[in-house]
Amino acid sequence: MAQHPVVVYGASGYTGMLIMDWLIDQGIAFTAVARNAARAKEMMAERVVRLESATYEIIEAEHQVDALTRAFKGAKVVCNTVGPFVNFGLTGVEAALRAGCHHLDTTGEQLYIRRVRDEFGEKFRQAGLLVSPSTAYMYTIAEIAAELALETPGVDALETATLCRGPRGVSVGVTVGSTASIFEMYRAEACYLWEKQLVAHDPHATFSVVTPDFMQPVFALPWSGTSLPVYFEHDARVRSCISSVGFYDNPFMQTLHALGQKWDAEYKDLPKEHQDEVIRQLVASTTPAMPPRERTTLQRSVDFAIGRGQLAAVRATLHGITPYISTGALQTAAVLKLLDGETARVGFASASKAFGHRYLLGFLEQRGLARATITQL
Ligand SMILES: NC(=O)c1ccc[n+]([C@@H]2O[C@H](COP(=O)([O-])OP(=O)(O)OC[C@H]3O[C@@H](n4cnc5c(N)ncnc54)[C@H](OP(=O)(O)O)[C@@H]3O)[C@@H](O)[C@H]2O)c1
Repeated sequence: MAQHPVVVYGASGYTGMLIMDWLIDQGIAFTAVARNAARAKEMMAERVVRLESATYEIIEAEHQVDALTRAFKGAKVVCNTVGPFVNFGLTGVEAALRAGCHHLDTTGEQLYIRRVRDEFGEKFRQAGLLVSPSTAYMYTIAEIAAELALETPGVDALETATLCRGPRGVSVGVTVGSTASIFEMYRAEACYLWEKQLVAHDPHATFSVVTPDFMQPVFALPWSGTSLPVYFEHDARVRSCISSVGFYDNPFMQTLHALGQKWDAEYKDLPKEHQDEVIRQLVASTTPAMPPRERTTLQRSVDFAIGRGQLAAVRATLHGITPYISTGALQTAAVLKLLDGETARVGFASASKAFGHRYLLGFLEQRGLARATITQL
């Protein structure tokens, strides 16, 4: 049973520990839950900033609904970072519901987000609880940009791009959990919103994103479709939303795309266990270990939304730094609101809809993590 109001699940993971950094900064006590308490203790001692001043406990729990329900009970909010969420996420969601907790997570996987909405949205609403997938760099930042564009009257069509960079491209800056989640995209349908309907992307879809922020066009992919088409599907303001993602390392993105083509040609029809093994090998060969903490001189991002109406045209851009650290900040911004009982929504809702995009943007801006510009076109 949790003694503290906030649970961080995935306590030995890169992102879970960054959430702890921010909770400690805000003076919030937390219960760290992990499948291996000894590993969590060791990792936290190595990585979590200011742990010596934190009020916390560590609970070991098997990744299973009953065990997690027991671990979460007593808390108000669960911050779940155990991914790939398409494989592990719903177990945490169900346990949070049973334990009477709000559930936030760090996913970027659209298929899982759709399942949370369809299988748990109404149950959380009836329980007076919020379930808010993707309270994370991907895709809360792009959604803030989209919401800024929607402030222009008449805008009803959105295109968004999430462009970020790590040292020498994504391969060195991305965590083990993220790499596994990225390769999971190959077997998940990716959708965009078109005339208020979710429509599947062509499996070979690519984008060539042109933005004044870079010299060259950025080669981008649908990247599972992102959360935005799902969150805008039942939003009266929006008719269409197409989202793209590119690490601005074009050769690397092209390699990922080629791997996706290879998946379609060679692995798509294999039994799940064989596919699991292919993904395991891909993760082990590309991301053998946890990367170092991000640096503001290396990890930088540009997320923008272009909004169109009949004649209205606007572009909202967020320039940002350190996406994983920003994810910890966004989770903590959401926790602060939930602990005070301040959410505009219960049930399934994005962080922007539950807490307000201007609040989230302000939280990031005040901490030097993002800067917004809005240009009428
Ligand atoms: N959308 C975004 O912007 C964004 C940002 C950050 C993270 N994420 C997502 O968040 C997830 C975690 O990322 P990360 O950077 O924290 O990865 P990570 O460093 O690899 O950590 C993964 C965590 O999950 C735990 N875990 C893995 N498999 C488990 C299982 N079967 N049962 C219980 N626990 C398990 C790990 O525990 P052990 O240490 O015991 O293995 C570890 O605590 C990924 O899906 C990633 O894509 C998304």
